[in-house]
Amino acid sequence: MKTIIDSLKWRYATYTFDTSKGISEKDLHTVLEAGNLAATAFGLQPFEFVVVKDQTMKESLVPHAYGQQHLAKNSALVVLAIRTDLDEAYITEYIERIGRVRGVPVEMLEGFKQSMLGAMSMKGADGRNAWAQKQAYIALGTMMAAASELRIDNHGAEGFDPEKFDEMLGLKAKNLHATVLLMLGYRTDTPDDKEKMFQIKVRKEYDDIVSVI
Ligand SMILES: Cc1cc2nc3c(=O)[nH]c(=O)nc-3n(C[C@H](O)[C@H](O)[C@H](O)COP(=O)(O)O)c2cc1C
Repeated sequence: MKTIIDSLKWRYATYTFDTSKGISEKDLHTVLEAGNLAATAFGLQPFEFVVVKDQTMKESLVPHAYGQQHLAKNSALVVLAIRTDLDEAYITEYIERIGRVRGVPVEMLEGFKQSMLGAMSMKGADGRNAWAQKQAYIALGTMMAAASELRIDNHGAEGFDPEKFDEMLGLKAKNLHATVLLMLGYRTDTPDDKEKMFQIKVRKEYDDIVSVI
């Protein structure tokens, strides 16, 4: 039986995708739904996933990502964008969703609502964005693991100009801010020597990263 460890050993940050192989809508949906199911603090999910399918747009993003060609040469590019409007309306919407889904009167959730409002207000705008970005990275990791389980190659990237991405993708108007990218696709059957090297996993020894007190 295939385990999560097998999947994580199989995956590597893929630079050369075989762009002739598309990802099925069903598999892409599964990867994105895994991101939706990722844990977040308070369950607030302060992010959205923007799938860039337009090839011309993908190519025009490359110069704003240090020329990284794999941003354009893949089967799907997902921009994980944080929400910049974690205000009372956003929190109220979440409370109402909890009430609806769990069949709980919203009055019973008032304490939870106040604790979230307090936490968000204490952070200030920069603190809220930093906090939201941490949550987005949890979704990134969850999606990478889910993709790997499906044997879909994946590569995360934060080497890009977020402000430029916001501008080009019209994110600011939607109260979104580009945070981290996920490229998806299938590795080439004919990797060059550099790509083969990337496929060799380099990690610390287990005992050097885990300690028990
Ligand atoms: C959050 C994150 C950001 C990354 N940013 C970039 C990037 O901008 N450009 C790049 O070439 N690789 C990027 N990488 C890939 C890492 O360099 C790669 O995952 C790391 O070297 C470990 O290799 P492995 O994923 O093959 O095990 C990023 C990975 C993560 C998880």
